[in-house]
Amino acid sequence: MGERRGEELIVRKIEKGTVIDHIEAGRALQVLKILGITGKEGLRVAVVMNVESRKLGKKDIVKVEGLELRKEQVDLISLIAPRATINIIKDYRVISKYRVEVPSKIEGLLKCTNPNCITNQPREPVKTIFRLVSTNPLTLVCEYCGFRMGWDDIAKQFESR
Ligand code: CTP
Ligand code: ZN
Repeated sequence: MGERRGEELIVRKIEKGTVIDHIEAGRALQVLKILGITGKEGLRVAVVMNVESRKLGKKDIVKVEGLELRKEQVDLISLIAPRATINIIKDYRVISKYRVEVPSKIEGLLKCTNPNCITNQPREPVKTIFRLVSTNPLTLVCEYCGFRMGWDDIAKQFESR
């Protein structure tokens, strides 16, 4: 398969850990940000960008050895890379594979873009809650102020500077 051969020219298989595959091209660094990976943790990480994919045209891949993802991380990845698949690897084999799914309710993971929202007031330790109103285009609504967050508002929170 062209897709596989193209990737294997660049990076080999991992023994144990997680492969996040079918990330929309150009978004791998945002996925790393979600995972909190800076490179200083000492984890062995492979980032593959803009390789051929039959399903997506081009895609990114992130492989992290020795890491299992938490549910909140998978939820955030679903917002940035809605077509991603999570592959769990043991002894060089894929022992589990699933598609990410955008949750209908997202609690405590995102900031509201509305500066006047109660969740942005320093004296009110309120956990943010957003409800999914549309996946395409991605739209979340703040439970507290009704602000509609779009893709840009969400993606901005995972841009590294
Ligand atoms: N992978 C890896 N190390 C392993 C096993 C798999 O890095 N020991 C990677 C593969 O390179 C691929 C992803 O994990 O990027 C999924 O592997 P696999 O299911 O074998 O590939 P496909 O069949 O191409 O996956 P899909 O059907 O999801 O496209
Ligand atoms: Zn709000």
